[in-house]
Amino acid sequence: MDSTVPNCSWIVREHEKKELTSSKEMFPIEIARTARRFHRQIPGYKMSPLVSLPRLAAMFGVGGIWVKDEASRLELNSFKVLGGSFALYRFIQDRLGIPDKEMNYKYLISKEVKKRLGDITFASATDGNHGRGIAWAAQKLGHKCVIYVHEETSVRRIDAIRSYGATVRIIEGTYDDAVRQIVVDGKENGWEIISDTSWEGYRTVPTWIMQGYSTMMMEIQEQFSGQGIARPTHVFVQAGVGALAASVFGYYHSLCGQKAPRCIIVEPENANCLFQSARIDDGNAHQVGGDLDTIMAGLACGQPSEIAWNIIKDTADAYVSVPDYIAARGMRVYATPLKDDPFIISGESGAVTLGALLTIMKQHGMESLRQALQLDEDSQVLLINTEGNTDPLQFRQIIWEGSNPVPKEYWFDRD
Ligand SMILES: Cc1ncc(COP(=O)(O)O)c(C=O)c1O
Repeated sequence: MDSTVPNCSWIVREHEKKELTSSKEMFPIEIARTARRFHRQIPGYKMSPLVSLPRLAAMFGVGGIWVKDEASRLELNSFKVLGGSFALYRFIQDRLGIPDKEMNYKYLISKEVKKRLGDITFASATDGNHGRGIAWAAQKLGHKCVIYVHEETSVRRIDAIRSYGATVRIIEGTYDDAVRQIVVDGKENGWEIISDTSWEGYRTVPTWIMQGYSTMMMEIQEQFSGQGIARPTHVFVQAGVGALAASVFGYYHSLCGQKAPRCIIVEPENANCLFQSARIDDGNAHQVGGDLDTIMAGLACGQPSEIAWNIIKDTADAYVSVPDYIAARGMRVYATPLKDDPFIISGESGAVTLGALLTIMKQHGMESLRQALQLDEDSQVLLINTEGNTDPLQFRQIIWEGSNPVPKEYWFDRD
């Protein structure tokens, strides 16, 4: 089912019920355990909260809304550091041939490892959060780091990356141009590229990054089981290149097989490369062009990650594409909770799934999508607040000054 209302487009996909070997191979439970064991050793690690919003759930007409709140993950304001740090762990392990049981964080940051490795420069392109995570991890390990950002990246995001000692270079064009450029410059300069997106011939590191995110998935499942819930019925994931979504969907399909939750992708309409790949429906990932202009900086990607797409195409039940004001609406709803619901700080990319859920549950014209996804009072919906106010100025402009308002015809609470 492909459908659209003036401010939201969606595609629903039925999948054959089959064993998904790709999810099982990429996200075996042992890898998640290894990632979690590593992250646990990092000073300052703690489980991020899984927050319940019961009042909002009742207002939306679902059984529960659960928000995995990554806003203060390792003081970096985003889940992204889980992937980058695990990739550096694997990189070093691989380079030095150390088995898992002999690897620990203390050893990783030791002078001995530094000496054995020699001088390394880690490098990556970013739209903000990934680069910040890599810069942070490289600094902890005592290595140099070069990060490429595109020209629309905000000064606040660039400063945050520089604060961890990385060299930042601003590239003309989009995130995709920054990726292309760092591949060329990386080869010339002998840098080690730690990219969260993959392409032909470059799959190992992005796989490690996706596997690193499974620490968050293990935490979520542990937190759900503490609430007496085996698993959510629905999970909404915001996507840029799709690595996070593939990790979440792949993890659930590996863990629960055919009982996996319904998996829904949400993207900005100006950078909806997964939505467009699903629409073209030839099995391949497709690029979207243009300037990828969106307030959702973390999702402003035109080219899906190939390995992520290979998981997503078999696991996503729906693709939803929305304008920026849906993300702004999500931020405001998080920031102004209904009575007794907790308050959540969520940035533009973090909040879009809540904005999308509100639109699906409350906006006229969305009934067929609600029905297709069986979103109703029995649903336990998982959202991931993937970032806090990573751009504090824009956060205030949206929350305090009301920028990116929802057009009046789409207010759901009208007389
Ligand atoms: C805050 C935030 N949320 C979600 C994403 C999407 O992740 P992916 O690019 O793996 O789809 C990003 C990517 O940078 C991000 O920064």
